[in-house]
Amino acid sequence: MDLLLPTEIVTHIFLSLPTVTSALSLASTCRSFHAIFHSSKRLLILQHSAKIEFGPLDDIVQLVTHNASQPAHFRRDVPLSDALIRQLVKAGHVARQWEDIYMYRKWKHDYVARRLLSTFERFKLRRAIYRLWLFDRAFHNIAHVRYARTRLEVVRERAALLHNYTTSELAEMLDVHAIIRDVVANDLCPSNGRLRRKYQARYPETAHQPLFSIHLNYPPTASRFIASDNQYHNSTLASSKYHAQQQRWQENSTHPAEFGLEGWGDDIGHYYVVEDMMKLDPEQILYLREHCPAKSQVEAYVAGMGMWFENNGETFSETLAFVIKQRGGEMEELKAAVEAEEVGVVVSD
Ligand SMILES: *[C@@H]1O[C@H](CO)[C@@H](O)[C@H](O)[C@H]1NC(C)=O
Ligand SMILES: *[C@@H]1O[C@H](CO)[C@@H](O)[C@H](O)[C@H]1NC(C)=O
Ligand SMILES: *[C@@H]1O[C@H](CO)[C@@H](O)[C@H](O)[C@H]1NC(C)=O
Ligand SMILES: *[C@@H]1O[C@H](CO)[C@@H](O)[C@H](O)[C@H]1NC(C)=O
Repeated sequence: MDLLLPTEIVTHIFLSLPTVTSALSLASTCRSFHAIFHSSKRLLILQHSAKIEFGPLDDIVQLVTHNASQPAHFRRDVPLSDALIRQLVKAGHVARQWEDIYMYRKWKHDYVARRLLSTFERFKLRRAIYRLWLFDRAFHNIAHVRYARTRLEVVRERAALLHNYTTSELAEMLDVHAIIRDVVANDLCPSNGRLRRKYQARYPETAHQPLFSIHLNYPPTASRFIASDNQYHNSTLASSKYHAQQQRWQENSTHPAEFGLEGWGDDIGHYYVVEDMMKLDPEQILYLREHCPAKSQVEAYVAGMGMWFENNGETFSETLAFVIKQRGGEMEELKAAVEAEEVGVVVSD
């Protein structure tokens, strides 16, 4: 089919599309759309739909253009190009995945309060993801070894990046940081205690039998997920994500002995494991969560990061505390305000 529409109208249609994918699909529907899409307007059209789908684009630009030649807080402007659009879309997809995770973790216990995020809340969440990610890229790397983390000039450089953001934007980052920590502490590196509780909740009838004598290798069924945690049943998308998560332990760790091997310690030991792992960026954490169900796989991935990674906790939290103090605030108060939903990605009235 070929529609005879004025160029301005077709351009306008392209500029009203909500996603990059829909712009690409429309471009392939007919020759005149294709022609306009491939005209000089192309990058503009893609930028526009990427902005709606993944924005704020400026924060992704700061993330993907960062390299060690410049302090992270310097502003970087780059011309629009196909390569840049591809990078924006790639980072954008990572942030979108955190939108779903956020909703479940934010109201993990208070699931009556759970709801979909508004367009603006999703925008704030993505912005926080890009900014935390830039912090990771700039300061959680081989140039930032453990012994140098408290040196004043190093602290100041980290603080300079956070000083680019308002205190309420920092609260959004703190909010999202806590959600990421929840994923790291419970999904990537579950404590021994958590695995024990999971095991007992899943197989209550076997709790009093000698653990080594049970045969549990029957295949997982959908009904077991629903029965075990029915507050998740309302969204099919969510239940499929939850399902994938459950399978991390389901498939290869159904035997209690294996559950034991999958644990990352308890209390202080587990706390330090999580501190280390929080140096991973939002994309790496999603990757490990989806592709590395076994502890040994996560350990192998982290070993590949290099020696600097080990025993070297994340520095966002302490830098944030430093910045808040410089602004005359109190970190504990900010944390409490985020928990009370007075500030952060979601603010309740
Ligand atoms: C590093 O970033 C600067 C500023 O954005 C840029 O001019 C330079 O080409 C980049 N260097 C590399 C190796 O990518
Ligand atoms: C961050 O703040 C510095 C100093 O105030 C400013 O020069 C720079 O442009 C800001 N960077 C961004 C990305 O806004
Ligand atoms: C879940 O779905 C059921 C039926 O579709 C509906 O009655 C109920 O209100 C929903 N619960 C929540 C918390 O949205
Ligand atoms: C379970 O273990 C088998 C063999 O050890 C392995 O091939 C498979 O990929 C594992 N599955 C998961 C989900 O880890």
